[in-house]
Amino acid sequence: IEEAPPSTDLITLTRHVLGDQLRLGSAATGDLTLLLTAIQVTSKFIATNVRRARLINLVGLAGEQNVQGEDQKKLDVLSDDIMVNALRASGKCAVLVSEERENAIIIEEKNRGKYCVVFDPLDGSSNIDAGVNVGTIFGIYQVLNDGSASLEDVLQQGSKMVAAGYTMYGSSANLILSTGQGVNGYTLDAALGEFILTHPDIQIPPRGKIYSFNEGNSMFFHEPVNAYLHSIKYPASGKPYSARYIGSMVADVHRTFLYGGIFGYPDDKKSKSGKLRLLYEAFPMAFLTEQAGGVATTGKQRILDIVPKNIHERCSCFLGSKDDVNDLLKFYNDPK
Ligand code: AHG
Ligand code: MN
Ligand code: MN
Ligand code: MN
Repeated sequence: IEEAPPSTDLITLTRHVLGDQLRLGSAATGDLTLLLTAIQVTSKFIATNVRRARLINLVGLAGEQNVQGEDQKKLDVLSDDIMVNALRASGKCAVLVSEERENAIIIEEKNRGKYCVVFDPLDGSSNIDAGVNVGTIFGIYQVLNDGSASLEDVLQQGSKMVAAGYTMYGSSANLILSTGQGVNGYTLDAALGEFILTHPDIQIPPRGKIYSFNEGNSMFFHEPVNAYLHSIKYPASGKPYSARYIGSMVADVHRTFLYGGIFGYPDDKKSKSGKLRLLYEAFPMAFLTEQAGGVATTGKQRILDIVPKNIHERCSCFLGSKDDVNDLLKFYNDPK
């Protein structure tokens, strides 16, 4: 049997995003595309270093704590540095917010553009020494006033994001992106150094069979969450749901997008605001979820409706298949 020759009509991420802008007849100057090019470079750099970490003494702790009191890994610091450097150098950014930095970075005037990027440089890093999938999460806003740059620009409602995405560093590096017209997935062809469109128009199945919670926290969960979990584990008819929990939001959400089901990290009696950070974890994932036809909620309100007060604030987070998340919401709306 003869093998088919490789395709010569490669749809790279850049080609795809540029094409989108042209098709939509937007007055886009290509600035967003250039910003996304910078983000792609950071993802390639992080992908490479995550893979060879064990060989080049990049595993383990950096020796400092971040503003949330987490011990930073060497790879957290490296990923944060490459992102700040590449985003600043792109000339397209005004304000940057990173999980690893206490304060927002206001880009100096000579390097300033009109976008704000909020990011989690390395998500799931606490698992990384075991070789588990990790990722980078990012959300992009436009500044409120052209030319200026202030904290207000990154305290906008989540629904104001113009783009969001993540790169998952797994068996391959996958970049999942939405610029507000649906969600597309690209896989890094390491030989070409390009992200190639492999998952066009991702739609979350309307119902799944998987739930993804850190159930070890059940004793702290509020009643609606425990009642919902009970309902899918002991269904009146049919099979119970399967449990899958990696402990890397990127990996758990990625599986939820492809297979359906529900991912949750609720607020509880111990963590009053939950654990996940609103700006650079919940917002981008909620943006992607809605763009892929799913639902993202705190249990009490739509995540994208929240107006942040502080760049590192946390929020309760449930997202995934429309029918599954709506089932959960029934337990919040009419508590027994
Ligand atoms: P990060 O590694 O960026 O600090 O994020 C960790 C987050 C997220 O990836 C994951 O969903 C969650 O922490 C897991 O928390 P638990 O270990 O409490 O389940
Ligand atoms: Mn962290
Ligand atoms: Mn994270
Ligand atoms: Mn992180």
